[in-house]
Amino acid sequence: MPSETTNALFRPFRLKSLELKNRIVMAPMTRSMAPNGVPGAANAAYYRRRAEGGVGLILSEGTVIDRPAARNDPGIPFFHGDEALAGWQAVIDEVHAAGGKMAPQIWHVGSVKSFLTKWEPAAGIESPSGLVAPATLRGDAMSEEAIADTVAAFAKAAVDAKRLGFDTVEIHGAHGYLIDQFFWSGTNDRADRWGGATIRERSRFAAEVIAAMREAVGPDYPIILRVSQWKQQDFTARLAETPDAMTDWLAPLVEAGVDILHCSQRRFWEPEFPEIDGEEGLNFAGWAKRLTGAATISVGSVALSGDFMGAFGGESSTSAGLDRLIARMERDEFDLIAVGRALISDPDWPRRVKEGEALKGFDAANLAELA
Ligand SMILES: Cc1cc2nc3c(=O)[nH]c(=O)nc-3n(C[C@H](O)[C@H](O)[C@H](O)COP(=O)(O)O)c2cc1C
Repeated sequence: MPSETTNALFRPFRLKSLELKNRIVMAPMTRSMAPNGVPGAANAAYYRRRAEGGVGLILSEGTVIDRPAARNDPGIPFFHGDEALAGWQAVIDEVHAAGGKMAPQIWHVGSVKSFLTKWEPAAGIESPSGLVAPATLRGDAMSEEAIADTVAAFAKAAVDAKRLGFDTVEIHGAHGYLIDQFFWSGTNDRADRWGGATIRERSRFAAEVIAAMREAVGPDYPIILRVSQWKQQDFTARLAETPDAMTDWLAPLVEAGVDILHCSQRRFWEPEFPEIDGEEGLNFAGWAKRLTGAATISVGSVALSGDFMGAFGGESSTSAGLDRLIARMERDEFDLIAVGRALISDPDWPRRVKEGEALKGFDAANLAELA
């Protein structure tokens, strides 16, 4: 019997050409298991299992654009080149065969170093200002030519996503990687039109990426943008300290062509501006939706006891209740909810929630293989 209390999660969702059977999104999770950057049968089977388990929309692990410095780990898949794109074709075909929907998460890591490997791209490292954190040098500041080529590579990836049959595409603009390095004053001190004192000015690079993608895919293909206040370089960093600043940051991006803002938090229940609406106030996705009118995805420790950064240190997490999530979804504070680690340990998580079965939590040992 379906559980009455989780019905808010199982309403369909529709936006432009995208139709989802429920509100559950698989969060993008790097697995570093694409040999030579090419997703193979194991990767396709991994995603297919999540489609079979009932996920409404699967977001792929970050997969990189055609720039020499786009990845920081040789197991990260490319989203360019015939071989890798053939691999992705098999992934989306399998997901569709299982009744799922999927977007690739399109990525460039900027100057961030992997914490899994010492490997570095042979071509060197690129970032907005040759920084990886405030006053921490890493990589070369990008030239006008490098920026133009990067924008074009993002647009090309969106064209390929659509051509292969992916249902939508997500841009990774969060967590301190390239696009976020442009947003953040701590890593963008450029004096040209790609920098500036205000978040609106530093959003120009993202806006150009989005506009180029929009132009390339046409008006009906949904574009998702993942953003975060926090950076892996500094969990306390914030791009927007006030709702007005958040509008300055996000509204131009929606205007440039974003349909869905994927608002990354480590704990979805934390209020974004508690000084305004209290400790139970809107979270990041709630405020982003209110301020821009765009649809939003929330995320962060859904049904789990601990947050995800511990996962990389081998930390597991026990399962926690869904009441707080359901309450926010019933109020339509945001449209969709992304689930990360719980779906690594249990591909059947959506089905289990729907049928009211006990949930498993997250076992960090499951990161060792694609199961
Ligand atoms: C193993 C692992 C890999 C991740 N890789 C990515 C990634 O490639 N892109 C991204 O935007 N977020 C990535 N994240 C963050 C997740 O998408 C998600 O925001 C985070 O795990 C919080 O959700 P959870 O608490 O439900 O796990 C990763 C998280 C984990 C645990």
